This record gives sequence, C-alpha cells and structure tokens, in this order.
Amino acid sequence: MNARAAPIGAVEAIMTTRAMRRFTDDPVDLEVVRTCLAAAQQAPSGGNVQPQQYVVLTDDEPKGRIADIYRRSFDRYEASLPVREFRDESQRAAWERTSAASRHLADHLAAAPVIVVFLQPLMPWGGRDDEGELDIGRLDASVYPAVQNFCVAARAHGLGTALTTVIRVHSAEALEVLGVPVDRFEIAALVPVGVPSGRFGVAPRRPAGKATHWNTYGNREPPN
Ligand SMILES: Cc1cc2nc3c(=O)[nH]c(=O)nc-3n(C[C@H](O)[C@H](O)[C@H](O)COP(=O)(O)O)c2cc1C
Repeated sequence: MNARAAPIGAVEAIMTTRAMRRFTDDPVDLEVVRTCLAAAQQAPSGGNVQPQQYVVLTDDEPKGRIADIYRRSFDRYEASLPVREFRDESQRAAWERTSAASRHLADHLAAAPVIVVFLQPLMPWGGRDDEGELDIGRLDASVYPAVQNFCVAARAHGLGTALTTVIRVHSAEALEVLGVPVDRFEIAALVPVGVPSGRFGVAPRRPAGKATHWNTYGNREPPN
C-alpha cells in the first residue's frame, strides 16, 4: 500500500475511482502495480479467454516516446471537438475542468511514474451456426472489466489512474514503439499510474435512478 493511503472498503474504492490526471513525483511501488495487475487478471471475460496483455512502462525512454504519441493524438482529438453548448454555467465549468485536466495529462504523461498499456488481440470472436453469425458481444467487453479492476485496485492502494484511449489515433506508431506486433494486437487502453496530487472523491454523476427502468423500459417506478 502507498505510504499515504489508509485501507478502504471495496465500495468506497469503486465510488472514488475517477480519472486522476495529475501526479506527484512520488515513486510507485511496483509490488503494488503487480497486485493491481493480479486484480485486473481476475476480471471476467467471455468464455474465460482472458484476452488482455499488459505492457508496463517504467523507463523514461519508452514513457517519453509513448507520451509524445499520446500528446499528438490528443492534439488532433482536441482540435476535432465540435463547439459545445452548455445547459448552465456549472456544466460549462465541469467541462472546462475535465478539458484542462485532459490537456495537462497530454502534456505531462511522460512524468507519470508508471504507464500501463492494455492490449487486446486481433482474433476471431463470436460464432456462426446454420442461421448465420452469432453476436455474442464484442471482444473489448472482455478487456475493459480488467482495466477497471486495475484502476479500482490502484485506488484502494492510494494510487490515481485514468482510463484513456485517445492514443488509438496513432495506434500503429504506439504499438511499434512498444514492440507489439501490429497484426496481432490493438490498444484497448492506456492507464497512467501515480500518487495523485489532488484528493480522491466521488465524481459527480447523474443519479442511477435516472437511468433505471423496472421490468420494462420507461417504467421508472420500482416494485414495492
Ligand atoms: C473508454 C474511455 C476512454 C477515455 N479516454 C480518455 C482519454 O483518451 N484521455 C483522457 O484524458 N481521459 C479519457 N477518459 C476519461 C474520461 O474523460 C473520464 O472517465 C470522464 O470524464 C469521467 O471522469 P471522472 O470519473 O473524473 O468524473 C476515457 C474514459 C473512458 C471510459
């Protein structure tokens, strides 16, 4: 456990796992990273195929090269965003905070003590029978539970993370830097890991009730 972290329960860890994009210079204990990877590995996957691979970056050289690709990817993404309309000032402020934090990460990714790249294989997925193709869900549905397990376990150890995907803009270049065969894998997520410079807290979300339907879509009334 990180020196500054006190033990917390599973639900508190889940509730307070949010995108942390600013890190202190404090080192990250690689034993903790291994524990978080073990938590990732316990995630469910379709048919228990456990498709994910992890590339863990700790050295300055690969971190710097990946950070450069991430920044260029983010530059293009940021420039592509349409002008947004906001409901009110607080929604605007929240958006601006997220944008500024995302920009900060793009400009400082190399300084994250550890970066974990989650790979998913390019492999046939789904089935086929006499009636045709069977849609059994996408393969990445078997990878993101592992990513989130990793992030929650990291949070439980006092480490901040952010699930990011924007580096996919320059996927082939990033895979090459990592020494990953481009014809065998794609990047599911890139997760920086570090001691956060801000405090953990519960991120604002719409209440779950606003997205919940009981027994049939549109029925908002829970059964008695
Ligand atoms: C699939 C996915 C892709 C994301 N990609 C990025 C990204 O490329 N860069 C980034 O800074 N944040 C990225 N995020 C983080 C989201 O912006 C963040 O989860 C969201 O704003 C909520 O943040 P909060 O939990 O701190 O409220 C991504 C999140 C998800 C789930």
